[in-house]
Amino acid sequence: MPKVLVTGGLGFIGSNFVRHLIAARPSWTIVNLDARTYAGNPANVADLPKSRHRWIKGDIADAKAVDKAMAGCELVVHFAAETHVDRSILDASAFLKTNVIGTQVLLDAALRRKVRRFLHVSTDEVYGSIPKGLSKEGDLLEPNSPYAASKAASDLVVRSYFVTHRAPVITTRASNNYGPYQYPEKALPLMITNFMEDRPFPMYGDGRQVRDWLHVQDHARAILHVLEKGALGDVYNIGGSYTCENRELISKVLELMGKDARLVARVEDRKGHDRRYALDCGKLKRLGFRHAYDFERGLRETIAWYRAHEAWWRPLKTAGGYRSYYKTQYRKK
Ligand code: DAU
Repeated sequence: MPKVLVTGGLGFIGSNFVRHLIAARPSWTIVNLDARTYAGNPANVADLPKSRHRWIKGDIADAKAVDKAMAGCELVVHFAAETHVDRSILDASAFLKTNVIGTQVLLDAALRRKVRRFLHVSTDEVYGSIPKGLSKEGDLLEPNSPYAASKAASDLVVRSYFVTHRAPVITTRASNNYGPYQYPEKALPLMITNFMEDRPFPMYGDGRQVRDWLHVQDHARAILHVLEKGALGDVYNIGGSYTCENRELISKVLELMGKDARLVARVEDRKGHDRRYALDCGKLKRLGFRHAYDFERGLRETIAWYRAHEAWWRPLKTAGGYRSYYKTQYRKK
């Protein structure tokens, strides 16, 4: 009956993972350590059985809180992070504290507590922008945003704990996630909810930046797969089933929602905006993982989910913190 510590399990990807784990591993119990920042939402896990899942409010950079939460856990899956690139451009401090120091604090606790496996969830952004081809796990890390730099730093801390302390770590690097429960500051939920309100989506620059889209449920399945089957000390890329330019994505969403192209507002580009990410996922495939979602189905279901869950996202968009962020972020654009 494994007990798993999930960090950041109130967030978008973390809560989807917790939901998947409850369904896929009926004998496992989950301790969910989450600081409940603006992006962590107890509503994301409100329907999950209390007998299987317990949320503890706490910061991963707080050694005492981490040590207590990890008691009796043999597995750790580490999602907790500041993740929004635009926010890291406005102020990088929380990114360094949570993503780098928080990871180090967790690793120290995992060594003390003799955790059996520690999976560190990272991102394709650590490779930086690649004009062509696919990023492989062994490629140079060339992060460009403060967010990406903080994740690359955390990946290196994880690596160092494997080499130095033989910590039982595995790192995964995923592409752009989409699906239910994504906080509406990220491109896709912002686009869908703005279009529902007949408000424009602010497209950065020429909209020709390329992203690879991974359904969050496939990501959750892939993480569990790697947690159970991956080799300690290794890194695994987790890409999606579809790669496209932002302007193509916008057109698809407009079409599926029956909206007009006038709802696209071209605005000033993001500073240091990475042009293209693309992942080589051969290693994950060789480990036996297969996607369940194709993008067309995933996107339709995601639009339907936001349509059906206005009561989930509207309070987030009308909250004071969101409105002041939105104003600061898009005022000059
Ligand atoms: O690639 C994985 C990464 O994907 C994760 O590590 C990050 O946590 C996650 O936020 C995401 O980063 P991106 O910067 O690619 O995601 P975002 O949703 O912010 O933007 C997707 C694309 O859309 C990107 O090229 C910027 C563009 N965009 C975004 C926003 C918020 C716009 O054109 N307008 C916008 O208002």
